[in-house]
Amino acid sequence: MNIGVDRISFCTSNYFVDLKTLAHARSVDPDKYYVGIGQEKMGIPPPDEDVVTLAASAAYPLMRDGELGDVELLLFATETGIDQSKAAGIYVHGLLDMSPRCRTVELKQACYSGTAALQLAIGFVARNPQKKALVLSSDIARYELGSPGEATQGCGAVAMLVSANPRLVAIEPECGYYTEDVMDFWRPNYRSEALVDGKYSTMVYIHALLESWKQYADQTGRTLADFDRFCYHIPFTKMAEKAHQKLARKLKVEIGKDEMLALLEESLRYSRITGNCYTASMYVGLASLLDTAEEDLTGKRIGLYSYGSGCVGEFFSGVVQPGYREFLYADQHRNLLDNRTELTYQQYEDIYNYGVPTDAGEYVFPQYKTGPFRFSGISQHKREYESLVE
Ligand code: HMG
Repeated sequence: MNIGVDRISFCTSNYFVDLKTLAHARSVDPDKYYVGIGQEKMGIPPPDEDVVTLAASAAYPLMRDGELGDVELLLFATETGIDQSKAAGIYVHGLLDMSPRCRTVELKQACYSGTAALQLAIGFVARNPQKKALVLSSDIARYELGSPGEATQGCGAVAMLVSANPRLVAIEPECGYYTEDVMDFWRPNYRSEALVDGKYSTMVYIHALLESWKQYADQTGRTLADFDRFCYHIPFTKMAEKAHQKLARKLKVEIGKDEMLALLEESLRYSRITGNCYTASMYVGLASLLDTAEEDLTGKRIGLYSYGSGCVGEFFSGVVQPGYREFLYADQHRNLLDNRTELTYQQYEDIYNYGVPTDAGEYVFPQYKTGPFRFSGISQHKREYESLVE
């Protein structure tokens, strides 16, 4: 029985900063961002958007299309947690009016937990083939103003329905995974911005890739030639390109720039203009690949490398299913990305500094442009959400 991704829907904020604007403010050559790290825009969430609203908005099309009826497991992957106790997924469960017969849990391991959630969901479906799981990955990447990581900020969420006989991508059972206790990127509970040892983090990302690949290759006997496309975790698009180059070099495979772009480029299109979405990043890449590839990908094998700092890496693979194009939300994604509002530098800094109040006061947040749900305020220490669905 095949198990895998049956539907995939992506959401990001309606606001972005062009990295040329940031480059100007930081007196940096814009090509450092556009070419050097391969990023053009970063998604910035307004005060009434958080990981709950992003995830609920990503999953909304599934609810609208009547896809959530058989879901009995909701896994919410994030490293932008909003509460130390209550799972963010429970708010989404309520906003989407899902059945009470559902297990709901939040998972954390930096950017990797979306993949942990997907693999756990696959295990659940293997045991309950008539049932489905909803995997939500949602994050807001935030670094200090003026820090090297600033240009890699972003935000977004991906909702994936996981089922038997999936209509999009069957996930293959073999995988290589790797854990090592390292301090390349972390965010202590008292901080709202990540701390990062940037250059070191890129080295650990690649080390975990080589270790994960080795296990995967030992299990399957596959070589790079057995793959038609690759999707990497995308903190910035250049990282994915560099990682693939390093893997090819390690395997003594000659790979030219054009050939590499043919394997990766479609998966990088959305991330280049949304920025890092942490747990969601690799799945934003998967949506980008499925939505934008001109070639029919039916039967093609995709190599997937997920990485979460701290660190855990995993290499696995999936095969695109016949008829997949009918079940994509490509037009909706394009529409969202094409209709965002550009922020000036000052607007960006004002939103950045707004923060979520922590003084136990009563707050009603100003209304910005969001998806179908918004974070409307705080009362008696409780977050309040509003549905804009008529
Ligand atoms: P930096 O050190 O300021 O940048 O920030 P740089 O000086 O290394 O420049 C970047 C590239 O731009 C270089 O290319 C420059 O040569 C080039 P490279 O040598 O690497 O090929 N460059 C230019 N190119 C064209 N025209 C120019 C120009 N100027 C320079 N004028 C750094 C880079 C990655 C350190 C920073 O962005 C950072 O700290 N980012 C955050 C950490 C990160 O994303 N790490 C990635 C791996 S870890 C990961 O993926 C996990 C993560 O998602 C978190 C999680 O798991 O939760 C982050």
